[in-house]
Amino acid sequence: MFSKQTIRDIDLGGKTVLLRADYNVPVKDGKITDDYRIKQSLPTIEYLLDQKVKLIICSHLGRPTGPKDTANSLFPVAKRLQQLLDKPVEFATDCVGEVAQKAVEGLDQGQVLLLENLRFHDEEKANDDDFAKQLASLAEVFVQDGFGVVHRKDASTDAVTNHLPSVAGLLLEKEVTTISDAMEKPKRPLMAIVGGAKIADKIDILNRFIDIADFVAVGGAMANTFLAARGIDVAESLYDKDNLKLAKDILHKAEKESKKRDFVFAVPHDAVVAETIDKTADTRIVEFTTHTMADIENYPKRPPAKASKLHAKEKILDIGPFSASFIAGAIQLSETVVWNGTMGVTETEGLQGPIGPFAHGTQTVVEALLGELGHKPFTVVGGGDTVGYVESRNLVGLFGHVSTGGGASLELMSGRKLPGVEALQSK
Ligand code: 3PG
Repeated sequence: MFSKQTIRDIDLGGKTVLLRADYNVPVKDGKITDDYRIKQSLPTIEYLLDQKVKLIICSHLGRPTGPKDTANSLFPVAKRLQQLLDKPVEFATDCVGEVAQKAVEGLDQGQVLLLENLRFHDEEKANDDDFAKQLASLAEVFVQDGFGVVHRKDASTDAVTNHLPSVAGLLLEKEVTTISDAMEKPKRPLMAIVGGAKIADKIDILNRFIDIADFVAVGGAMANTFLAARGIDVAESLYDKDNLKLAKDILHKAEKESKKRDFVFAVPHDAVVAETIDKTADTRIVEFTTHTMADIENYPKRPPAKASKLHAKEKILDIGPFSASFIAGAIQLSETVVWNGTMGVTETEGLQGPIGPFAHGTQTVVEALLGELGHKPFTVVGGGDTVGYVESRNLVGLFGHVSTGGGASLELMSGRKLPGVEALQSK
């Protein structure tokens, strides 16, 4: 159960509300290229407007170097929000001081104002209490709905709550409840599919999944580090050279767990390799043998035998067809799946459409998750890049839950407390 008060728990009628959203969206040449986070903030905004509040919204965008960093202005977000809400959204060119105060004075009940990027002031990242006080002075109630940023201890996620009654918005409540339930009381079997580039970023989440899941499959460049830790020559593949020891520790932990109970930790058995990352690249499938922990422990004294080899200039760019089918099969046996990270390089388009030569592994996983093989588990999609992939294929609505949080969802899944949630009033 969500332990914090939400906008449903307090009387907001006609009040001036400061809403923290996460509108950190990709903007190219002044145009928003992905508005998922903005769309997901609408239910809270609509609820608040139904309460006839004067609504002030604040957010950060990017990591600006100062107020002149106009590429990080939130103005394009104000325009997009206006279209989505189908009502005017005022914009203030500063989030505190006279400009912001004047803009708030001009606001009527039921009207919306978006403040300029909080990070144009260094005090935001410094969790500065005076800055937080100035922000808070604009309103009577604070609502935290920026799930994507609640893992940060900033002025607008932490210090501001020292100065106003502070409750959660509907998106924050939904994200925390859905992700926590999937981790803490999932319908079993629980499967985790973890991809992405770096092991170091996902170490906590992998350890947690080894403790709680029934099946963990790794893919993406991160899997290359596990292959390298197993003594396979990954040639030019991207892998985390500094974290081979970490990878071995995880493999050991997983092996121990699988001796205690029904648990599988699946590292790819095969891979799609090529020398270049482009749609016309010559691809090959390379098959690896499975190795015992003794092979790993004795490496390099006793290198594992019989793995088919990558050529010197080749790199692993996707999981192979055997591994993809193996994961798809495990998905058929799972009731809950948490998916974080693609299985290969999905950005390269194909000769005949969006699915390129290194996206088949991810595509097979997606088809299985969406029930195309007959069984559809409840799937939580977490993490920035994975969501970008799902968005680009227009598949968002088809999954159980697609999180707006990157780092925040990883931290929540890893079992860490989120400062921006902790700071809110308890029920
Ligand atoms: C995100 O995109 O993950 C959040 O908006 C947080 O942004 P940050 O990593 O710059 O703090």
